Amino acid sequence: MLSEHLVDAAAAGAPMVPAPYRITAKEHQTADVVTLRLEPVSAAVPPFRPGQFMMLYAFGVGEIAISVSGDPANQDGALEHTVRAVGAVSRALHDAPVGAPVGVRGPFGTSWDLESAVGRDLVVVAGGVGMAPLRPVVLGALAGRERYGRLVLIAGARTPGDLLFSDERRMWSGARGLEAERTVDRPAPGWRGPVGFVTEPLARLALEPARTTAFLCGPEPMMRFCAQTLLRKGIAAADIRVSLERNMKCGAGLCGHCQLGPLLLCRDGPVIGYAVAGDLMKTKEL
Ligand SMILES: Cc1cc2nc3c(=O)[nH]c(=O)nc-3n(C[C@H](O)[C@H](O)[C@H](O)COP(=O)(O)OP(=O)(O)OC[C@H]3O[C@@H](n4cnc5c(N)ncnc54)[C@H](O)[C@@H]3O)c2cc1C
Ligand code: FES
Repeated sequence: MLSEHLVDAAAAGAPMVPAPYRITAKEHQTADVVTLRLEPVSAAVPPFRPGQFMMLYAFGVGEIAISVSGDPANQDGALEHTVRAVGAVSRALHDAPVGAPVGVRGPFGTSWDLESAVGRDLVVVAGGVGMAPLRPVVLGALAGRERYGRLVLIAGARTPGDLLFSDERRMWSGARGLEAERTVDRPAPGWRGPVGFVTEPLARLALEPARTTAFLCGPEPMMRFCAQTLLRKGIAAADIRVSLERNMKCGAGLCGHCQLGPLLLCRDGPVIGYAVAGDLMKTKEL
């Protein structure tokens, strides 16, 4: 159990001190993805902006970066994170039972700048677990629907069973003026939707380049192909944002582990304009 001194330090925003939280609910999204609801044991970490991430510590296993996937309107101290089990720490978080303790540091990094899209058309493209950091964008934009022109969401996944937030998306699709499309790489029996990469519905969209902002999150090749599709449509690189979610250690701009060219991605990212990110994405992860 953390001492009172550490709890105070976490509450005061000391970036390397985890605040004690507990898992209060788990929602299984797919076979290997779960959304955790975390509530503070004492003081909560500061409010988050859509696209920011926290460092989640699974006690005795390790710490990883996970984006906040919750509704930005709910800043009551509870957090939602959507985790895909890929290795030791993410598996430990995925498998942890309700009631288990989790250490939380953050929020860290840059955010999807929803304000910059006000009065414009907003195109959101998500691949796989990339839907998690974009969920706050969709919820935030729907909450202020009148502030935007067209709202387009294109989500892709490997199979129909890998599509995240499927139940909610039915609700979102019914929401006023959200154009939502889903596509999968490999169909399964009963799937009647499109098959193929997210670039295909994106390429078919008739967009007004001068008034379109695009937010992309998913595997880097997916973001690169989507950005190229948007550039070919005449959308400026400055109006395209991507999330560069490379490996991180401290999350707080201290260790240099996330350096990419002139940037520290935990501080200057993960959300970056494609005008800057485009060239940097040519560098493979070490
Ligand atoms: C800013 C940021 C936000 C993130 N948000 C989320 C999120 O919302 N949900 C989620 O499930 N994951 C998210 N990730 C990815 C998550 O941090 C990694 O999956 C995690 O670090 C893997 O740790 P591990 O110990 O479980 O696996 P490891 O044993 O470290 O790795 C297992 C496998 O995962 C791959 N991997 C490791 N780190 C990453 C990474 N950063 N991105 C992609 N693959 C990685 C490794 O190459 C390896 O193939 C985010 C990463 C960053 C940097
Ligand atoms: S992860 Fe340590 S400086 Fe970015």
